[in-house]
Amino acid sequence: MPLSQGAQSDANFGATITGIDLNNLSDQDFEVVRNAIYTHKVVVVKGQAGLIPLKQFEFVHRLDPDAEGVHGFDTKDVTDETIGVLGSRFNTIPGSVGVTIVGQGYQGDDHYGLKGITARSTTHFDAHVDPLTTEDLENRQTRFGAFHFDGVIYGSNPSRVTTLHCVRAPKGPDLTIRWDDGSGQTMTAKPGLTAFIDSAQIYEMLTDEEKITADNSHWAPAPQPYVWSGTRKIRNSGLGMAPGGETVPLDKLPAWVPEKVFKFPMVWVNPVTGARSFQILPDVVQKLYFKSGPDAEERVVEDNDEVRVWLNNILDRICKPKNILIPDYGEGDVVMFNNWEVLHSSIDYPASYGVRTMHQCHIPSSTFPVGPVAV
Ligand SMILES: [Fe+2]
Repeated sequence: MPLSQGAQSDANFGATITGIDLNNLSDQDFEVVRNAIYTHKVVVVKGQAGLIPLKQFEFVHRLDPDAEGVHGFDTKDVTDETIGVLGSRFNTIPGSVGVTIVGQGYQGDDHYGLKGITARSTTHFDAHVDPLTTEDLENRQTRFGAFHFDGVIYGSNPSRVTTLHCVRAPKGPDLTIRWDDGSGQTMTAKPGLTAFIDSAQIYEMLTDEEKITADNSHWAPAPQPYVWSGTRKIRNSGLGMAPGGETVPLDKLPAWVPEKVFKFPMVWVNPVTGARSFQILPDVVQKLYFKSGPDAEERVVEDNDEVRVWLNNILDRICKPKNILIPDYGEGDVVMFNNWEVLHSSIDYPASYGVRTMHQCHIPSSTFPVGPVAV
């Protein structure tokens, strides 16, 4: 069943699934859910209040059985020194293998075996060039945080699918999400939700000439990308980098090796539908490798400003309320998304609305994203 979006968006992706039990998923139902994720990109599975964290992990692993059985951030390349702007957000639920808590606030004396932890996920206050005040937030004004896809990136393939089990949702009146980029654009949403942008739609918005170039081009993140991003900030819309700030020089980063700096296709192909997605992580991209066709010469761009201006020009085409999906989900529901085809962002809410608890799971993919042309 398609997701209801109300009048403010006509994003044509997303679906709702009812009548299944993720704790006891038959092979047939698993295929239905897998196909829904790859076809609709974002899926809300209703009514999973009793979902056992280990079962959530097993579901994500079942989508990629050859993958290592760990959370996407639980790699040896992630240390206190390298975590940078990802922040300290690792609270793995005991016995789950790789389900972590994301959210805000005190999670209770004993949450599934996690004792007395306080969650503090990254907010727009950490990320934006010109954040709101906490008073604005209490007055129900908010922002998207940072649109991204999940993954450590350095030495690790981004997860194919991320799942978020909503265990506790904040409660309070709807919020106004502000772009604050001079456009005057806003959206409203209930608190505690996640916003999505369809990267296949970004691809479709490219000109024919741009599509051929994107199909044949690549991008590379910086080594230790979440440290490298330094003092750079994200635009107030949450999508794309703002001017200014300094990246950390490569020789000042935590130790790194070139073999772990992957060169990703600019366009990733959906393994089920064949859809092409323009998939670049704005805050970590260091180099663009442009090729205007299969036999064209490669042109490398590594000037931060040139990368930023080129990328923002493309991202600006989609960054409008009508293209953004904010699926309605509540306590007990599980949100699943194709991490290779959408960007997502949290939406900050006032602390007075209470605690948010999401059980989150993604794992490093066993395979590299597939581009549209043979390399
Ligand atoms: Fe995320």
